Amino acid sequence: MTRYRHEFHAGNFADVHKHVTLTALLQALGRKEKGFLYLETHAGRGAYDLTGSSESRAAAAGIERVLAGAHGQDELAAYARAVVAWRSRAGNPHAYPGSPLVALAQLRPQDRAVLIELLADEAGALEKALPASERSPPRGARIQVVQADGLERLRAYLPPPERRGLTLIDPPYEAPGELARINAAVAEALRRFPTGVLAVWYPIKEARDTAAWHAGLRASLARELLASELWLHPCDSRVALNGSGVLIANPPYRIAARMREWLPALHGLLDAGGSGGTSVRVL
Ligand SMILES: C[S@@+](CC[C@H](N)C(=O)[O-])C[C@H]1O[C@@H](n2cnc3c(N)ncnc32)[C@H](O)[C@@H]1O
Repeated sequence: MTRYRHEFHAGNFADVHKHVTLTALLQALGRKEKGFLYLETHAGRGAYDLTGSSESRAAAAGIERVLAGAHGQDELAAYARAVVAWRSRAGNPHAYPGSPLVALAQLRPQDRAVLIELLADEAGALEKALPASERSPPRGARIQVVQADGLERLRAYLPPPERRGLTLIDPPYEAPGELARINAAVAEALRRFPTGVLAVWYPIKEARDTAAWHAGLRASLARELLASELWLHPCDSRVALNGSGVLIANPPYRIAARMREWLPALHGLLDAGGSGGTSVRVL
């Protein structure tokens, strides 16, 4: 059983990179009228509070810089609006929305979400964080929280009847054998729903480990993959987390071109020390 608690990492630069990327992907899917499914395998508790630990305060400082500077790019502005709206709904200036709430801000009435979380207390908290009108039951609600192993359960929701969708896989990368399970889940998701957009968040610790993982997936999946990376420390530094990556299969039209605009802008807001960088590349 995992002991991972996302509140210790909520709001850090990696979380923000992931959530802006999520916003950009959902905005891209929302350009067509037809509804889609947003499926998340590791949803977390949805609502976090950045008052408290020193890591939370450092994260809060990063978020404040993003909120203050996010005006030039649509994707950053949409993410900032989602954070501000959540704070106002929560009545807490330090409230911070997790990925399900960031996603909900982009969903339209014709879109659906299935949010899978392993731990009962996290899934329960997520259920409470959703707007009352969206909570399940009733089953079949537009937004469904499911307490289960997301890597195993994702197959039950793919392909969606809409034949349009985004799957986000955002694991803690802590359990032994987790990477092999993630790779198998990615392959299974794309086998069941070959045209669906799929995004996998990954930590960048050692650049050569990331490169080996990318090469393995490129060979086994035999399809276009886009890697979006933002790092604050040189990619071979011996710190806990040098950078954040999101690997995207079936990237929506023009997402890479847009990302080359907003990702450096986001990096400029997050990297006060200026020792990091960004990269958007097709593998
Ligand atoms: C990185 S956090 C998720 C953060 C969330 N996606 C966000 O961005 O706000 C990882 C979550 O996955 C949950 N988890 C761990 N293993 C899981 C599994 N096999 N299936 C579903 N959830 C899992 C943990 O309890 C934790 O809440």
